[in-house]
Amino acid sequence: MATDETTGLTSQRKVEHLDIAASGAIEHTRGAGWDDIWLVHDCLPEVDRDAIDLSVTFLGHRLRAPIVIAGMTGGHPRAFEINRRLAVAAERLGIAMGVGSQRAAVEEPSLLSTYTIARETAPGAFLIANVGASQLITQATRPPYTLEQIRALIQAISADALAIHLNFLQEACQPEGDTRARGAAAAIQRICREVPVPVIAKETGAGMSALAALRLRTLGVRALDVGGLGGSNMAMLEARRAERRGDRLRQRLGETFADWGIPTPVAIIEARTAGLPIIATGGIRSGLDAAKAINLGAALVGIARPVLAQAEISADAVIEWLTGFIEELRVAMFLTGSASLADLRMRPRRISGRTAAWLAPAYPAGP
Ligand SMILES: Cc1cc2nc3c(=O)[nH]c(=O)nc-3n(C[C@H](O)[C@H](O)[C@H](O)COP(=O)(O)O)c2cc1C
Repeated sequence: MATDETTGLTSQRKVEHLDIAASGAIEHTRGAGWDDIWLVHDCLPEVDRDAIDLSVTFLGHRLRAPIVIAGMTGGHPRAFEINRRLAVAAERLGIAMGVGSQRAAVEEPSLLSTYTIARETAPGAFLIANVGASQLITQATRPPYTLEQIRALIQAISADALAIHLNFLQEACQPEGDTRARGAAAAIQRICREVPVPVIAKETGAGMSALAALRLRTLGVRALDVGGLGGSNMAMLEARRAERRGDRLRQRLGETFADWGIPTPVAIIEARTAGLPIIATGGIRSGLDAAKAINLGAALVGIARPVLAQAEISADAVIEWLTGFIEELRVAMFLTGSASLADLRMRPRRISGRTAAWLAPAYPAGP
């Protein structure tokens, strides 16, 4: 069991993450590279804008739009209201939602309500539980979670899926980070076999290669959240936390690795190799970015920091922002003559710049 000290630390970390994310200091400076992806305009679209179908089936569930509010928070009293507001929007708009790492609730059961509020508020939404891969193996200061604990986290929010987050970049830059990783693959394989919901492997900002995606598929995961470079930057998040504490080594590590990772558009193309449904998270900032991600092969897009910023204001602000986002996606579909997301996926594209350079060695004939 965790000590009081580690319990407090997890909760404290959660609130520091919220503060630093709100400050905007962790947005990747160069972006994910969406400007390199060009959807080809159709000057004679054979589709009515208002008849465009944005719905999608993901892991057996119908969503009204291909969006997941990416898992961010829980585990601190302040997170209760944020998760509630996000859940109001998920329920209203018929989209999916993830909660943040449920570690804090394992360490301190009184914090459970900061997660369960999501299910109470969004009884019909596709809800994703969240646990870290590094919590599945023995770390220097604590044992791995048991299967019973993980099943309880899923059950607590009647989750439709479990995301296992892979955040080794962040752990490596974190003062109290868990940096043991041997055995994580075997632990993920066991969880995939033993839990009653599909498992999603979820990177958190450093992306996924084709090889990693294939390995994850062999472990039994049912979907991949590529969590690519280009949006919220977890190394920078930890650098800013370290700076506040005067931890110059961790600050230096976070700043050095701020550019580490596989950009989101590249990660989508790489992960496609595994043939699993893909969630494109990492720097999705508009419905046009979403259209490009879906055209490249994503089933859903994940959005974290932009909706967090709205959730700091109100549930209505989250709904208004997402409604605008959905309209942007609809217009991109209209202008490419796409009546459905399946149509959008088949529309032509051009890839330029850094993204083309990234892809050239692996895809000489184009992705
Ligand atoms: C404040 C904050 C907290 C986060 N906490 C988690 C977490 O607990 N579990 C997780 O899987 N991802 C977490 N993430 C990562 C997001 O789910 C997402 O992958 C990342 O922020 C990239 O998306 P964005 O560029 O739209 O922000 C967090 C992100 C932020 C900004």
